[in-house]
Amino acid sequence: MSVPVEVLQNILMRFRPVAKFAQQYHSTGVNADPGQVRRVFELYRQFAPVAGKDILEIGPGHTLEVLECAKTEGARNCTAIDVVDYRSPEQKGRTRVIYALYDGKTFPLEDACVDLIWSYTAFEHLRYPAMTVQECFRVLRPGGMLVSLIDLGDHSFYGMNPPHPDKLFHCLRYPEWLWNLMRWNRSSYVNRLRQSEWHTLFKQAGFILRAEEKMVSEDIVRQLPLLPYLRRYSYEDAVTSVLTVCCGKF
Ligand SMILES: C[S@@+](CC[C@H](N)C(=O)[O-])C[C@H]1O[C@@H](n2cnc3c(N)ncnc32)[C@H](O)[C@@H]1O
Repeated sequence: MSVPVEVLQNILMRFRPVAKFAQQYHSTGVNADPGQVRRVFELYRQFAPVAGKDILEIGPGHTLEVLECAKTEGARNCTAIDVVDYRSPEQKGRTRVIYALYDGKTFPLEDACVDLIWSYTAFEHLRYPAMTVQECFRVLRPGGMLVSLIDLGDHSFYGMNPPHPDKLFHCLRYPEWLWNLMRWNRSSYVNRLRQSEWHTLFKQAGFILRAEEKMVSEDIVRQLPLLPYLRRYSYEDAVTSVLTVCCGKF
């Protein structure tokens, strides 16, 4: 899609009725698929047990079922916060998970009130990532943990046929002001932070990195000499496509 069309779409998305209409067609990832729900739950659980814990999920999209799994496995309280309400009428009728919408800035939660924070492919969409990481630190109890899987790719080309593996980091071609003009109001907005920038944000907020898993894109490794916009990054930043962090508050 051309840049002017992208900018126009972004402007249109500022109008609430247009945004509401578009939301019906959004896919948020796990989409409450039972197999994926279990996989995401097991990913979180490998870092910390859930029994007796107060758990917060940031950006559940269409999927409250991961937190419902945690409830079934003995979590005390499960809360989800999001900036867009993707819940179905049926999900809205369920009460095992506390749900809150907010403006993407200050969490609607007290200081030191949760033991675990989970997030799956939501941090890359944060408009105010430094603030959100600080908010995570604020609402965690000492000894608490944040587990977040962050997809560092440009989501615009996912699921395309034919696939565009060389365009995984296409979003990094644009200066920040233009990228924001193209995407800020759209669900496909990604903040484009690289893995080292996430490390810095977690450290600045006071977190200690306890464990980390990284996925490298072999397509980007092969294409790297042909992608001049990646030259300004370290090798690791240029090739890491998915980052899973487990950060502790002490
Ligand atoms: C790609 S979807 C992922 C949804 C779900 N975690 C999954 O994997 O299916 C990203 C979600 O993050 C939410 N989001 C974006 N910015 C947010 C913020 N500042 N705080 C909480 N959620 C946010 C979006 O509304 C959306 O529901």
